[in-house]
Amino acid sequence: MNSSRLTACAVLTSLVIGSHALAVEGDPARGHRIFGACAACHSLQPDQNMTGPSLAGIWNRKAGTLPSFTRYSPALKSSNIEWNDKTLDEWIADPQHLVPGNQMMFPGIRDDRQRADLLAFLKQETTPGRAQMAQQGGPMGGMTGMMGGNSVANLKQLDAAERVQAITYCKDTYIVTTANGQQRKFWERNLRLKTDSSSDGPEKKAPALVRAGMMGDRADVIFAEPSEISALIVAKCD
Ligand code: HEC
Repeated sequence: MNSSRLTACAVLTSLVIGSHALAVEGDPARGHRIFGACAACHSLQPDQNMTGPSLAGIWNRKAGTLPSFTRYSPALKSSNIEWNDKTLDEWIADPQHLVPGNQMMFPGIRDDRQRADLLAFLKQETTPGRAQMAQQGGPMGGMTGMMGGNSVANLKQLDAAERVQAITYCKDTYIVTTANGQQRKFWERNLRLKTDSSSDGPEKKAPALVRAGMMGDRADVIFAEPSEISALIVAKCD
């Protein structure tokens, strides 16, 4: 082999090794930022389920099998996939391609580099016993929280201004009275009635008023269970 061939060979080899390393070694810190795209629906805390299932311990789990998550689609449950580097990469690239008919409303991330970074972060955060940064509020610990992940407020301890005592309904208006004696009026389309039965949810019979919307004209009232909703709301006009 002459020397120019040798050089070409060396360049080729390093290119191959280089791109291989690119595909495998993501950067968890960059991946943390990309996880912002997932955090509105997925927590990394075990069994903290939101729109989507908790991703804690996802590696080597069979798809659609986390016992505490009760909203899996039939498509995902019957997919027979086990989550690993390869299947997770395919899922994040194009969920509907890997499991047609699944119910994750997410278009996918086409960029190889971004997926590698995201997977590096997820592996670090979801494998028990690894050094973790999101849960311990590491360098960017607060960030996923701000993006909506892992951030549902705990409603067990409420200020008087947040604890709902009475709701009356007149024409198109809800009047919400809180424990500090304040009354607020909401157009009926601006007040959402919700439940949270989890450990983050309110105590029974102590529903929470949670402000929503930029202008403070909207709010959620979150109850411990559905039966409390109509029991509390009284239709009357003064
Ligand atoms: C809009 C909400 C939403 C977003 C955003 C979202 N997911 Fe999901 N995810 C879901 C839902 C819902 C499911 C369950 C789908 C089903 O059962 O068909 C799911 C399922 C999954 C699963 C399979 C879990 C299991 O137990 O089998 C993985 C892995 C996953 N998502 C990862 C991600 C990642 C990584 C991102 C960000 C790149 C992301 N998801 C973004 C809602 C979301």
